[in-house]
This record gives sequence, C-alpha cells and structure tokens, in this order.
Amino acid sequence: MKPVRLLLFLAGAVNLYLADAASDALPKSPSHVRRAVSFGKRNSTNVAAATCSPSDATYSSETMPAGSYTDWGALGLDNLTSGRQYVTIVNLTPHRFRLERAHSYQMDTFNWGDIPSGRSRQNIVHYTTRAGANPVDTNGEAYYTIDGTSGRFVIRATTHIPDRYPRRTIIDLSSMGLGQREYLDPRPEVPVTLVITGSAHHGFIASLTHGPGNWMRQIYDTIKDRPLQHIVMPGTHDSGMSTISGKIVSIGSEENTQTQGLNIYDQLRVGARWFDLRIISVHQSNTADYDFWVAHVNDENADVPVGNTGESLADIVSEINRFTSENPGEIIFFRVRYLVGLRRVPLGGPIDWDNAITNNFFSKLRAINNRCANLDTSVQFQRQPASYFMDRNNGAGCVIFLLDGGNLQNGVPRASVADGIYAAGQMSVHDNWSNLPTTQPMAENQIQVWSGINRVEPFTNDEFLISQWLVSADALQTTALSIQNIAIMPTNPSLYWAGINAMSPTNWPNVLLVDYIGVVIPDQFAWNQLSAELYTLAIGLNLYMLSENCDVSDQRSPLLPAATVTSGAKRRISRPWNGIIFANGTVIDSPPQNLHPGRVEVLKNGTVFDDGTVLEEDTLNPDFGSVV
Ligand SMILES: *[C@@H]1O[C@H](CO)[C@@H](O)[C@H](O)[C@H]1NC(C)=O
Ligand SMILES: *[C@@H]1O[C@H](CO)[C@@H](O)[C@H](O)[C@H]1NC(C)=O
Ligand SMILES: *[C@@H]1O[C@H](CO)[C@@H](O)[C@H](O)[C@H]1NC(C)=O
Ligand SMILES: *[C@@H]1O[C@H](CO)[C@@H](O)[C@H](O)[C@H]1NC(C)=O
Ligand SMILES: *[C@@H]1O[C@H](CO)[C@@H](O)[C@H](O)[C@H]1NC(C)=O
Repeated sequence: MKPVRLLLFLAGAVNLYLADAASDALPKSPSHVRRAVSFGKRNSTNVAAATCSPSDATYSSETMPAGSYTDWGALGLDNLTSGRQYVTIVNLTPHRFRLERAHSYQMDTFNWGDIPSGRSRQNIVHYTTRAGANPVDTNGEAYYTIDGTSGRFVIRATTHIPDRYPRRTIIDLSSMGLGQREYLDPRPEVPVTLVITGSAHHGFIASLTHGPGNWMRQIYDTIKDRPLQHIVMPGTHDSGMSTISGKIVSIGSEENTQTQGLNIYDQLRVGARWFDLRIISVHQSNTADYDFWVAHVNDENADVPVGNTGESLADIVSEINRFTSENPGEIIFFRVRYLVGLRRVPLGGPIDWDNAITNNFFSKLRAINNRCANLDTSVQFQRQPASYFMDRNNGAGCVIFLLDGGNLQNGVPRASVADGIYAAGQMSVHDNWSNLPTTQPMAENQIQVWSGINRVEPFTNDEFLISQWLVSADALQTTALSIQNIAIMPTNPSLYWAGINAMSPTNWPNVLLVDYIGVVIPDQFAWNQLSAELYTLAIGLNLYMLSENCDVSDQRSPLLPAATVTSGAKRRISRPWNGIIFANGTVIDSPPQNLHPGRVEVLKNGTVFDDGTVLEEDTLNPDFGSVV
C-alpha cells in the first residue's frame, strides 16, 4: 500500500509543477524538471534549488526611451494648451510586457512600446490640437501581453468633454482579475502611472487600489532575514502637516506649509513606514499651559519663526494605535525633531524643553501601543534583520521613535530606551535632501546619490539612504503653485520613470520620501481617489528587484516558479476584486464582463494602427463588447 500511495503523491506533485510551468512558461532548463522529479529527497540539491542564483536573474538592462519631465509652465492654472499626456508603466515582474497592438484616432503621437523586466516606460499620448478636429472623438488603445503568461492588459486614452478634466486614462486589468480604473489626467504633460509587480507564479499586484495595510507582514518570508539597510519603504516629508491647525499665529498657509493630504493613519495604510515628525509644544501666555503639536516652520529657533501647526500629537497617537491594531506586523519609524516650545504668538524665540516638558512628551508617547522597549543598543538598527523588529510584541511589530535631540539642553533626557524611545544616532541614516527648486535637477541629484552606493559584497559603502524625492521651491513660487501641485504633478510621477530606470538590483535607496503620498489629483483625498503607486512600488522593489541581488537575498526570488515542488503554492497580496472605479468615484464591484469604459463602438475613418494601416471608412470595432 504505502509505496503506491507515495508514487501517486509524487506523480500528482510533478503534474502540478508542470501545470504551473506551463502557465508561467519562464525559460527553464531541463535541470529544473529533474530537480522537481527528485522531490521528497530533501537533500542539499533541493536546498540549493531554493537559493538565489545569479543565472536566474530576469532583470533587464535594456535602455529605455528617454522620458520628459513635466513642463512647470504647464502648472499655471490657465495653461491647458498642450496636447501631450504621458502614461508611465512600471514592470517589477520577471516577465516582459509586450506591446501587442495599438490604434488611435486624432492623436499627433501615440507612442507605446515593450517594458522589459525591472524597467519603466513613459508612453506618449498627444491629443491633436489641430483646428477642425472634434476633440470629443479623440481616443486610442494600447494592448499588452505579459510574456510567457496568459496575462494581458489594455490602456485607453479618451476624453470626457465638457469637464474640468477633459482627458482620461483607463487602465484595464480585468482579464488578469485586477479590475479597471478610469484616471483623470491631472493636467497636460502630467503622467498617469501604472505599477505592476508579482508574477504568474506568485500572483500579480497592481497600483489601481491599495492592498492590505500590513504590506511588510505580507512579504515577511522574503524580507525577514534582510537588515533594514536592505529593505525599501515609502516615507513622508513633514508627516504631520496634513492640515493647517493654526495653533500659532503665523502666515503659513495650505499652499506653502501643508505637505500631506492624508493623516498619519491613512499614510500608514498607503504604505508609509518612515515618518518625519516635527513636534513643538505650543504655549499660551501662561507658558505652563501648553500642548504638543506637529509644526512646519522655516526655523524653529528663529526669533519669529514663520509657518504653522498641523496635527496634534494626541491625534497622531490614536491614529498609530488604530493602524497597528488593524494591521499588525510592521516596522514603523518616527524620526522626531524640533522638540522646542513656541508661544502662540511666536515672538521672542523658542522655549527650551526642560525635564518636565520632555518627560511629559515621553508620557504621551507611552500611550502608543507596540513600542519596542530595550532593543539591543549595541547594534545599529539599520544592521538588524527585519524579523528582529517584526517578531516583537507577539508578531505585532514595532513602532520606533528616533529622537533628534539637537535642540535639547544638557541634562534633558534624549531617549528612554525602556519606553522604546531611542536617540536618533541609534540608527545611522543618510538623509539626502537636494534642496533644489525644480524637479529635474532634484531627480538627477537623488539618482546620483543612490547610484553611488553599489549594494554588493562586501558592502563597502552600504548605508541606509533616505531619498527625498521632493523639491524646495522658493516661497513665492511655492505659494503661487502650492506644495501639493508641485508634488503630485511634476515631481512624484517622475519617480516612476526617471527614478525607476535609474534603479537596478544593486542600486536603490531605502526610503522614498515624498510630499502628498497617495494623492494623484489635487484635493482628492478620499480613499477611493487615492492611487497605490508608491505602495506597489515598495512591495515590488523588495519582492522583485532586491530579490534578484543574491548578495542581498540568499533565497530564490519568490516571484520565480519554485525550483522544488515543495514550495509551489501561489500567494497573493492583492484582494480578489475585478470591479471598475470611475473617475467620479462610482465603483462597480461586479461589472458585466464585456463592460470596458473608453472602448469605442466604431473606429472612425482615419484611425491609425501601429502597423501603419489607416482606416478609410468608419468600421465597427471588433473588440467592442468583447470580454477581454
Ligand atoms: C541528494 O540528491 C542528489 C541528486 O538527486 C543525489 O545524487 C544524492 O545522492 C542525494 N543525497 C542524499 C544524501 O540523499
Ligand atoms: C503653456 O504650455 C505650453 C506647453 O507646455 C508651453 O510651451 C507654454 O510656454 C506655456 N505657456 C505659459 C504661459 O506657461
Ligand atoms: C545629497 O547629495 C548631494 C549630491 O551628492 C550632496 O551635494 C548633498 O550635500 C547631499 N545632502 C545631504 C543632506 O546629504
Ligand atoms: C459616474 O460615471 C459613470 C460612468 O461614466 C456613470 O455611469 C455614473 O452615472 C456617474 N455617477 C455619478 C454620480 O455621476
Ligand atoms: C475617409 O476620410 C478621408 C479623408 O478625410 C476622405 O477622403 C474619405 O472620403 C473618407 N471615407 C469615407 C468612406 O467617408
């Protein structure tokens, strides 16, 4: 009996593997199959098959067409003359995205192409501004297949006239079970971005919606042994400034002082794990009467600091607790600075924190759950493996405070290790701020810095690098254009083509620090209006890009089909959802399979196909009403 059962089991396992292989269809050597057949022996050959091998790498170093930075002139509110739009597609999968076909009507340029593994492409959609064209009819479609898999997706460019946002980009991943979304094109020359990671073997994840809040826990097996220095995470600049609360009397306005659209709870949900928190005490005329607030000022030690306050510390405490109770298992850093008092009318310079104020501040932090007390201070945190933090608090992870006590006087405590509050020096970071006024020089500067760190053995210049992907325009320009517009239109989208094409398995920063995380359209801060580019990018860099660096990761990339059948189970981080999100906020969770917004019924006379053919009469669209 026994041997027969074992044989059947083996046969089943091998069949499963072959089925998986057929659907993934990655290049495979016969030795993979031999290894698969040897299943059950569990000896060193199998162990070797589960390790990272440089010969398994899929990352492409193909040169991509150069992209274009958004013209800052196009940010002026009344300049809508440019016909140009961009659609950036980021491929963090082991499969090539292949342009299958494209067609367009009334487009001066409709330029699409393949996106190899690990690369990004800024595609160009130039709506004609030719006199006589009826813009209502302008549209186009680009069809992609995902090499070696059954995956396909379609991007549509179309119009919605009249409307404040007349151009739309529809990303249709319905045939992959990942839904469709109609994006507003924010402004001429401002890209709409799609990030895809995962694999046929692992399951795909795309940036149309946010997945589970605890993304680190979802990829625990992949990152648990990596030191923090070998993990990538989103971060936020001036994190608590998601509102202007006016607790000090100053001129800081929404345009020039607010840096985020989401509170700390929602920033955590969209993936941020590194927070730049600037805390002051705000004192009434009786200075013993004070409360703790986030602030953003030009110089907290000036006689008359200029800026404003944001969230209260009390709100932040409850937001952190809400997040970690709903999403256990993460590593969350708050790097805290300022730590001085300002008068409500901020004249006469700062009020230095004494022991009483500092201890009062610590007592507020003690209300935060999942702090990690008494960590080993003999080891710099960036050198500890992720599991060292993620396993704490019974697997609920760590909320870690790093205090920059530069403003604290001698004798005032700068840390409280027993409370999980550490001195900033406990973790060496390179916090690289370009301090440049426009996007392109900032981007080039940030890229130059991370390109200088080659993450290979023996890691001679390895460091925990914070890339501040944000510009610092002067006060006049910032007030005129607003920090929000500067962040979400020219600046954040450039990370996904300029930034990504300058990353590789050996070159990347650890923190991608941004203003207005998650926001893609001005003042659209509701959950369904956000977009998951940075969330998906962070997962994809850890899961795909860093896993292809065998000096960083000993184990075989989780995105490749298992070399042994023992670990072939598909995982999936995204929730199963195949609905449609319309730009007006309407969501259809279970649309009819043949509903594809933006697909036209009639291809007009003059429609251009990418093989050069041009329609000479109106023609019914054979794809209209089809399922895919
Ligand atoms: C391990 O597997 C290899 C290849 O199948 C085989 O040659 C070897 O004898 C095995 N070793 C042990 C200890 O089972
Ligand atoms: C408007 O945008 C176009 C195209 O980007 C640009 O050439 C032009 O200089 C802009 N005009 C103004 C007034 O900003
Ligand atoms: C960031 O890097 C640039 C380029 O190397 C350098 O000029 C600048 O001083 C750095 N800034 C910080 C804060 O490290
Ligand atoms: C939102 O847009 C969809 C598709 O264009 C439309 O069917 C729906 O009626 C709109 N909903 C609202 C509230 O305007
Ligand atoms: C298609 O458009 C061309 C160019 O405008 C025109 O010459 C031709 O007559 C049109 N064909 C039909 C069938 O209308």
